[in-house]
This record gives sequence, C-alpha cells and structure tokens, in this order.
Amino acid sequence: MRLLLLGPPGAGKGTQARLLASRLKSPHIASGDLLRDAMEQATPLGREAKAYVERGDLVPDEIVLGVIAERLKAPDAEGFVLDGFPRTGGQARDLDRALEDLGRTLDAVLHLEVPDEEIVERLTGRLFCPQCQRVYHVLHDPPREEGTCDDCGGPLSARKDDDAETVRHRLRVQYHEPIGSLLKYYDKRGLVVPVDGMGSVKEVSERIAKAIEAGT
Ligand code: AP5
Repeated sequence: MRLLLLGPPGAGKGTQARLLASRLKSPHIASGDLLRDAMEQATPLGREAKAYVERGDLVPDEIVLGVIAERLKAPDAEGFVLDGFPRTGGQARDLDRALEDLGRTLDAVLHLEVPDEEIVERLTGRLFCPQCQRVYHVLHDPPREEGTCDDCGGPLSARKDDDAETVRHRLRVQYHEPIGSLLKYYDKRGLVVPVDGMGSVKEVSERIAKAIEAGT
C-alpha cells in the first residue's frame, strides 16, 4: 500500500507511521527525519535546511522534494508510509509527478486530527533518539531507563524546534495555513480519511487500522 499521513506537527504522525510501516512491512519515509539526517551529516542540503527547521518554517520545496524523490526511487519503496510530505498544494503536485514517473499512485491519505493545546503538551514533552529516530514522551511514553533509547541504547534529547513558542509558529505556518488546500486537493480524488488522533497510541493505531480496512 502507498499511504500518506497528514496532520499538525506533534499529532503522532511519526509514532503511527512507524507502527503502520512495520505492520505493512513497508518503509516509513519521513521528510523531517531525512532533513535532520542531512543536517546531522552537514551535507550542502542539510546546511541549507538547518535555519528553516530551527525557526519552525517550511524548508523550500526544491530541497524537500530532492530528498523525498530520491528516497521514493529506492527498490524497497514500492509500497510506503509517507509522513511530513507533502505539506502544501505545490508539494502535493510535485509528489504526484514523482509517483507518475515511477508508475505509482497513492491509495489513501490519513488525516490525523488533534487540537492545538494537546499538540503543545505532546511536543514540549517529546524526547527523541538521534541515532534511530524513535520518539518518546516524558509522561505518555517514557523510555525504560531515563535518557536512554530502549531500541538502540542511544542518548535521548529534545528537539530544538519543540519549545512552546516555536511549536505555535509551526502549527500556524505548517498546518493551519496550508492544510485547507492540501485536503481539497486529495478530497477531489476521494482519498482523504479523517482519523481522530486523541486517545492512547494504541487506540489511535486501532482507528487507523479500521479506517484502512474500511477504505480498501
Ligand atoms: P517533522 O519532523 O516532520 O516535524 P512535524 O511535522 O512538525 O512533526 P513532528 O515530528 O513534530 O510530529 P509527529 O506528528 O510526527 O508526532 P510524533 O509521533 O513525534 O519536520 C521537522 C521540520 O522539517 C519542519 O518543522 C520543517 O521545517 C521541515 N520539513 C519537514 N517536512 C517538510 C516539508 N514537506 N516541507 C517543508 N519543510 C519540511 O509525536 C509527538 C509526541 O507526542 C511524541 O512525544 C509522542 O511520544 C507523543 N504522542 C504520539 N502519539 C500520542 C498519543 N496518542 N497520546 C499522547 N502522546 C502521543
């Protein structure tokens, strides 16, 4: 299956995409992870993206499209769970062109809905592992040993763009402003499946599984 997860920053896209990808045995392709990886390695693209990511602004389309298009061409990406891309109508058209070149189409667009106040609470409590990208929450999903990743033993840290002020900025410029045109674009093709993102990680993942079953 070729699935796309849309939703505000902190809605749980990464958490759910990782579970879904493992269930479907498909890669989880996340624009944020690919950008952070490029920043960590200080590639030319990563150096260009850094200031945008730290301010909580959208990285220019051509940079993000470059990393995503390259990843979609990999042999393991016949099916995928895409997270964080596209974020604008322009990126949605770019994605369609990239998939068309590969002779592929999307099967469903899952829209995770979570209110702003819950988002601020989730992101200001988030921890992540820079080594394997797994995410945690200090209260809702803590690691077994404080400060250490359960999966790879790496040291956990908070993301620089997860302070409350940057989170509110990200919500406005990366979600509330562009989401209307993005949903309209996919709704015309009957692809949008709204999913309530409130409740535990397990409850949300069960809702997603049911929504996919019902839509296919
Ligand atoms: P990116 O990494 O994609 O950030 P984001 O969209 O802001 O999404 P997040 O990773 O913050 O949240 P998420 O929805 O994955 O939630 P998570 O599962 O971690 O992008 C980073 C930056 O890169 C952007 O700001 C931008 O600058 C740039 N960028 C990326 N893509 C771009 C694009 N296409 N165009 C331009 N620029 C782009 O969960 C959040 C927290 O909540 C965790 O702590 C988790 O444990 C917890 N949690 C999850 N589910 C639940 C639950 N059900 N209940 C309670 N807590 C929960």
